[in-house]
Amino acid sequence: MSVQVRHLAKVFKHAGGDVQLFRDLSFDVPAGGSVALVGPSGSGKTTLLRLIAALERPDAGSIVVNGQDVVALSGEDARRFRRQNIGFVYQEHRLLPQLTALENVLLPTLAEKTTRNAGEYRDDARRLLAAVGMSQRETFFPDEMSGGECQRVALARALILRPTLLLADEPTGQLDAARVEQLLALFQQINRTEGVTILMATHSRQAMTFMKEHVVLRQDDGGK
Ligand SMILES: Nc1ncnc2c1ncn2[C@@H]1O[C@H](COP(=O)(O)OP(=O)(O)OP(=O)(O)O)[C@@H](O)[C@H]1O
Ligand SMILES: [Mg+2]
Repeated sequence: MSVQVRHLAKVFKHAGGDVQLFRDLSFDVPAGGSVALVGPSGSGKTTLLRLIAALERPDAGSIVVNGQDVVALSGEDARRFRRQNIGFVYQEHRLLPQLTALENVLLPTLAEKTTRNAGEYRDDARRLLAAVGMSQRETFFPDEMSGGECQRVALARALILRPTLLLADEPTGQLDAARVEQLLALFQQINRTEGVTILMATHSRQAMTFMKEHVVLRQDDGGK
């Protein structure tokens, strides 16, 4: 799934002073591409991922995902676009505390009206938990898991509806070096074998080496 960003600008109006992000940002991600999105804290990485997911609207410019004008989407159309295309791994894992790891992974499937049945989703969820090394934690609740474990469950949840575009916000932030390597390898594998396009916001140089390209956001002037 390709992503095309053109002349993007975002302003947050704020009583304490407006925040102007990337005044004129343009870049392309080809279908099957993988991009590390880098830049200092506050440069707009999270905001850019939210814009691409139609969770936020830009003040100028366009975002086209697989031929679809994302900026024009709102309400139920935006939700459907996300459900059908996008997996999102948040900077904080955002698992629901009252659900187990397995139930959290299955959560996005509850709103789905598809031909796949609950048993198939359950098998998929188990496979994904195994892929992120969390088979032993299926019945654990978020407050019974470490931050890095929760982050890995969140990745499994982001993949359960088989997205073609994976947006990941600093997914390796809470992991130790060995786990970072493992998770990055998993991202790479998802990208290469399943053709999932990946955009990953990251501060990690190591993460950059696993992605095919990188886009740099600057604090003051935006740009590429
Ligand atoms: N809803 C909002 N209202 C006002 N300002 C906001 C809002 N959301 C984000 N900002 C501002 O936009 C800037 C970019 O925020 P963003 O979260 O996108 O940065 P980031 O690059 O992801 O940073 P980090 O590396 O720390 O996660 C920040 O300076 C922040 O204060
Ligand atoms: Mg951020």
